[in-house]
Amino acid sequence: MQILQARDYNEMSELAAKRVIDQIKSSPQTTLGLATGATPLGIYQRLVEDSRKNGTSYRQVSTFNLDEYVGLSPEHPNSYRYYMDQNLFSGLDIDKARTHLPDGMAEDLEQECIQYEEKLKKAGGIDIQLLGLGRNGHIGFNEPGTPFSSRTHVVELDDSTRQANRRFFDSLDEVPTRAITMGIASIMEAREILLLVSGDKKADILHRLLEEEVVESLPASVLKRHPQVTLIAEEPLLSGHK
Ligand code: F6R
Repeated sequence: MQILQARDYNEMSELAAKRVIDQIKSSPQTTLGLATGATPLGIYQRLVEDSRKNGTSYRQVSTFNLDEYVGLSPEHPNSYRYYMDQNLFSGLDIDKARTHLPDGMAEDLEQECIQYEEKLKKAGGIDIQLLGLGRNGHIGFNEPGTPFSSRTHVVELDDSTRQANRRFFDSLDEVPTRAITMGIASIMEAREILLLVSGDKKADILHRLLEEEVVESLPASVLKRHPQVTLIAEEPLLSGHK
């Protein structure tokens, strides 16, 4: 795992955005793996700005998001489809038909998971996957204990994850209890992964990630087995790990 130290959130976002933009310029048909949450917002802002200013085109780009809540429609302001439309897709010339998220409203959720994997495969896999880090070490919504062999599946969200995401909802009761997430094996098939870590609340889990063995109780630890992972984290979080 390559480690890049960023001075602050802005620099972390800048470094990751630059990597994505370089990739799209050199390979316009890139397939991106995308995350939601607070961490990638600065990256998405920069991708939109760059596209407006410099004309970087996403017409041939495809995207696959990591996850979606079960039971929230695309129009629900807390659905990940809504988040992606608002924060990224609406600011780019991307073809909406090439943007994929699991359908959390699907009648047959198991079938939806199988189809999502098939779409990913048909698209030729992910070139660059953006990942945030959960405070409990999750990647996507793969909570501690998820088998490393897992593919896209339905998960029961951890209480700690629902608490962490409660800030986006009016009350804890409104936070969905289930989600569809790409599995750990699906994530590990990405050709390149950018793991982004920012904020004091991530200090403990980042230290654990850097120090502990590769174990299923710490899902992100699997990334140490991937040949092309760059961890971009704020400098203070990395102190003692140079
Ligand atoms: C989001 C996702 C999650 C988040 C993680 C960190 O699509 O899959 O794994 O990346 O929970 O969230 P933030 O960035 O809000 O701290």
